[in-house]
Amino acid sequence: MTEHGSKIVPLAELQTFVVRCMGAVGISEDDAGALADLLVSADYRGHYSHGLNRLQMYINDVKSGTTVGDAKPEIVKETIATALVDGNNVLGPVVGRFCIDLAIKKAKEAGIGWVSARNSNHFGIAGWYGLRAVDNGMIGMAFTNTSPLLVPTRAKKEALGTNPICMAAPAKDGDSFVLDMATTAVALGKVEIAHRKGEPIPPGWAIDSSGKETLDPSECECLFPLGGTEKTSGYKGYGLSMMVELFCGILSGAHYGPNIRTWKDTHQKADLGQCYVAIDPNAFEPGFADRLSDLMNICRNLEPAEGETEVLVAGDPERQHMAKCDKQGGILYHPNQIKYANDIAEQLGVEPMKAL
Ligand SMILES: NC(=O)c1ccc[n+]([C@@H]2O[C@H](COP(=O)([O-])OP(=O)(O)OC[C@H]3O[C@@H](n4cnc5c(N)ncnc54)[C@H](O)[C@@H]3O)[C@@H](O)[C@H]2O)c1
Repeated sequence: MTEHGSKIVPLAELQTFVVRCMGAVGISEDDAGALADLLVSADYRGHYSHGLNRLQMYINDVKSGTTVGDAKPEIVKETIATALVDGNNVLGPVVGRFCIDLAIKKAKEAGIGWVSARNSNHFGIAGWYGLRAVDNGMIGMAFTNTSPLLVPTRAKKEALGTNPICMAAPAKDGDSFVLDMATTAVALGKVEIAHRKGEPIPPGWAIDSSGKETLDPSECECLFPLGGTEKTSGYKGYGLSMMVELFCGILSGAHYGPNIRTWKDTHQKADLGQCYVAIDPNAFEPGFADRLSDLMNICRNLEPAEGETEVLVAGDPERQHMAKCDKQGGILYHPNQIKYANDIAEQLGVEPMKAL
């Protein structure tokens, strides 16, 4: 236990806790394992909004039957480098694992694998899929559409999702570039965490029910695109979110834009569209990893601006968080997050999560 009552949970304990919770609602060990891997990875990487914090949502979807446990994703149509997959409404990470592995297999043969999926569900951090490609020496990309929360520039009302993008690539000696980001100013989970902690949110994040900007997380109805208002170039985030939707809902024939169910609606299936890409750098000029490491190190070695201590590249904040977890022997959770997990355990009649 730490001085503020926060507790450390070893990664392996979090993994088995998620598997036993999902097992209690009828999910197979293999499928629950995919979800557990994803949630552990999110918290380990410091994206608390998309780890344990989301467990109840996946449980609710399975309990309500809007996500099913007794099906498997299947290929509807394919070429040597592409595939259209029907997720058959199973857990998002089960669909995602199937699709990125398929993209990697195709990239090994054709240099690139591009897989578009429909009938999927919430897939957590986009980075988990990109990193699976990196583990295979590939550049990996992952995209998903999501429930509508993004208010297009000049509009009053939401029409697109937080539509995240991941682009990850292998550099030298185990280093990697991992850009993993929402195309809204922030992921909604960050507003939820601020609300749970009773803290205000920064300008340029949220819009209230009257269509005006708010700094109060409890009033947040929807989000600005990445970049914020038109004055601060929010239309670029709006454009990127449309790009994601084009690769996901439009390409695969899934639901798209405002047709997607509202956030946390458990009355209808989500039918999310997703896209997974793997590119083999060996299909291009040799020395990709060396050049990428060189460029990343050029950026890291830049002189920091006044008041700053170091320049980072995408993936570094998460690497720092993982190093901290390794040092402390697991993931540090606020007492409210431990209570949240143990309330779930009680509700499902499974053993609680053991914290140190
Ligand atoms: N499944 C969904 O529905 C969904 C929707 C939205 C977001 N998400 C996930 O939420 C997570 C959080 O998204 P976010 O947009 O809030 O992330 P973020 O703003 O915390 O980070 C975005 C990216 O910026 C990089 N970064 C951060 N600080 C940096 C710095 N100083 N210098 C260089 N790079 C830096 C990070 O490494 C990361 O790649 C992501 O994993 C995303 O995939 C999921």
